[in-house]
Amino acid sequence: MSTTTRFEIVPVAGALGAEIHGVHLSENLDDTLISDIRQALLDHLVIFFRDQELSPEQHLAFAQRFGELDDHDFVKGLPDYPHILHLVKEADETGINFGGTWHSDVTYQEAPALGSILYALDVPPVGGDTLFANQFLAYETLSDGMKELLDGLMCIHSAKGIFGLDSYADKKFKHMAVEPSEKADEEVEHPVVRTHPESGRKGLFVNRNFSTRFKGMTPEESAPLMNYLFEHSKREAFTCRFRWEKGSIAFWDNRSVMHFALNDYPGYRREMHRVTIAGDRPF
Ligand code: SIN
Repeated sequence: MSTTTRFEIVPVAGALGAEIHGVHLSENLDDTLISDIRQALLDHLVIFFRDQELSPEQHLAFAQRFGELDDHDFVKGLPDYPHILHLVKEADETGINFGGTWHSDVTYQEAPALGSILYALDVPPVGGDTLFANQFLAYETLSDGMKELLDGLMCIHSAKGIFGLDSYADKKFKHMAVEPSEKADEEVEHPVVRTHPESGRKGLFVNRNFSTRFKGMTPEESAPLMNYLFEHSKREAFTCRFRWEKGSIAFWDNRSVMHFALNDYPGYRREMHRVTIAGDRPF
């Protein structure tokens, strides 16, 4: 546990993650406090707040202190708040859940998100936790030979498998405003090893949702190494797990963290609001 002058930081796991105590995000926070929260995010990669009460306006205002907001290409926001994604799984829904594969958000964009701020409105009595994995550790624990191989490699990302016309995304997420489109076929390339623009640390930057192949290779040629990286990047020692309560918030750094929403709450409802902060082009 450490204490800044304004709030307390309680790490939740060895790899990443910390709860921030003593801040009410609905208040008008001054620049020093925002800069301390930003530092806590850089230090812990994902930060958690409990017992918050945020109106949509307050949620958006808090997110805007960290950058421009991202427009999701395939999920429509709330009618009056287009930058707020409504992530909901109803009690009677079966099948997959949104975010139920290890991923970083919107890596199919040229400039993927800086981070996302997820706010819990309704949670199951048990289950529906979110897992996070530290991608700096994922990179740093590779052998020198593997690091050398990956350092020069580029990866092709696309939203086709999740939000493409053939993906049935609209049918999979029955109660969400998902709009599959052929725009999902577009491809972008990002380095497999990304340098964090603020801390300068190197991290792995591939994910099962959107990374399709290595540049210059076929999907089949890419698959063995890609699958190894997908498995390696979520090893238990790199993760933390967050148990939600109504009013909890998770704020993750999408440039260094992957996340996974557990789908273990059949018969219960889970409802979240997500605001995504736009990022910059990976290098
Ligand atoms: C997401 O991938 O943004 C969803 C995470 C969650 O619902 O826990």
